[in-house]
Amino acid sequence: MGGSAKIEIEGQGGEYPILNGTIGPEVVDIRKLYGATDRFTYDPGFTSTASCRSKITYIDGDAGVLLHRGYPIDQLAEKSSFMEVAYLLLNGDLPSAEGLKDFTYTITRHTMVHEQLATFYRGFRRDAHPMAIMCGVVGALSAFYHDSTDIDDPEQRKIASHRLIAKIPTIAAMAYKYSVGQPFLYPKNDLSYTGNFLRMTFGVPAEEYEVDPVIESAMDKIFILHADHEQNASTSTVRLAGSSGANPFACMAAGIACLWGPAHGGANEAALNMLREIGTPDRIPEYIARAKNKDDPFRLMGFGHRVYKNFDPRAKVLSKAATEVLDKLGISDPVLDTARELERIALEDDYFIEKKLYPNVDFYSGVILSAIGFPTTMFTVLFALARTAGWVAQWNEMITDPEQKIGRPRQLYVGSEQRDYVPVDQR
Ligand code: SDX
Repeated sequence: MGGSAKIEIEGQGGEYPILNGTIGPEVVDIRKLYGATDRFTYDPGFTSTASCRSKITYIDGDAGVLLHRGYPIDQLAEKSSFMEVAYLLLNGDLPSAEGLKDFTYTITRHTMVHEQLATFYRGFRRDAHPMAIMCGVVGALSAFYHDSTDIDDPEQRKIASHRLIAKIPTIAAMAYKYSVGQPFLYPKNDLSYTGNFLRMTFGVPAEEYEVDPVIESAMDKIFILHADHEQNASTSTVRLAGSSGANPFACMAAGIACLWGPAHGGANEAALNMLREIGTPDRIPEYIARAKNKDDPFRLMGFGHRVYKNFDPRAKVLSKAATEVLDKLGISDPVLDTARELERIALEDDYFIEKKLYPNVDFYSGVILSAIGFPTTMFTVLFALARTAGWVAQWNEMITDPEQKIGRPRQLYVGSEQRDYVPVDQR
């Protein structure tokens, strides 16, 4: 405990405990402020608000550090696997070889979805955005797994968590298949989590699908880099939905809906579309000028971050991976040159320097995903697929937090004072 903060307003208030965690900023516990002063704090966007205690992920925005259960993201991206990171996020420690084998066995055997779920896809137009399909189908899981929606039962929470992590790649691949008019492929248990996803996405019944190890490794690394990220907007959405006691499937559907926004997970799709619209490096100054123009709503997609005021460590890994993957696949994409030149120019520009705007996770991911063969409309689906592991871990932590209560913010009311109803013939 780090002492206390004195808050006094017109004689009301008092001392509010300062709590400190393992690393990172202390917090002022103001839970009793309203009761003592009849006043709320005001923090739209929660720029200075800690919503919970958590042990899962730590971000140092100034230093550009991201830890999952204490392990640096660059080490996990280099040495771990998405299955192992999912286990780490969920259970708190890296698994033993036996533990990883058991976890992988369990997840692998939950990858199939109920056959009736496939009919949900048929209700969508073929040109439906895959994220619209994801919102609908993941929410519909609540209707299929009544045996794992009792959130007070640890065993049911565990089964629901495994089902979500296991089925999200199948559901994502089905969304892609539906959009291109190809038949769904069932999972194959002899493939890795990521290899299975690639086969369900790009394989066809007419021939065997060989998983390319270069693509499998790049995809697995991308999943690791997108797995969790502290209390971002979509994770906070999952926690808020879960705080009411909603079942985990409905909570993840809420998280997917929030992630879709271009200011959040939708930025990877928007960033590649922006880079393609810029086209050649000579057009970069025009877009930099637009990004700096207060009267222009245009923002440099894939740049800036609420927490990182330095390089997003994930962007550093992805920037390197983009060159490696395209070289290994023998692909040259002028968009990557444009991205690099845009980064160089922006990072030398006073506006970006002063506002500490750096490339974030979404700036380079699209170049790799496009090289692998995904359409831009699938980019945020892939983000949601990976982030499901983090959402599930955060949801479990919230449910088992003794301090947990339903999330219910207050407001600064600026509307009308009380007034009497006026009949329509007197208005
Ligand atoms: C993700 O929270 C997470 O952890 C999210 C995420 C995760 O893993 O879950 O990391 C994933 O969402 C990454 C961010 C992806 N979004 C984008 O790339 C979209 C473009 N970026 C911006 O919209 C913006 O940077 C945000 C939304 C990411 C952050 O916005 P903030 O924290 O609310 O900051 P802000 O909008 O107040 O910006 C501060 C200033 C503003 O100028 P002033 O009002 O102070 O004059 O910087 C400017 C902004 O106009 N600014 C930008 C900019 N981002 C911020 N100007 C031009 N281009 C940009 N990209």
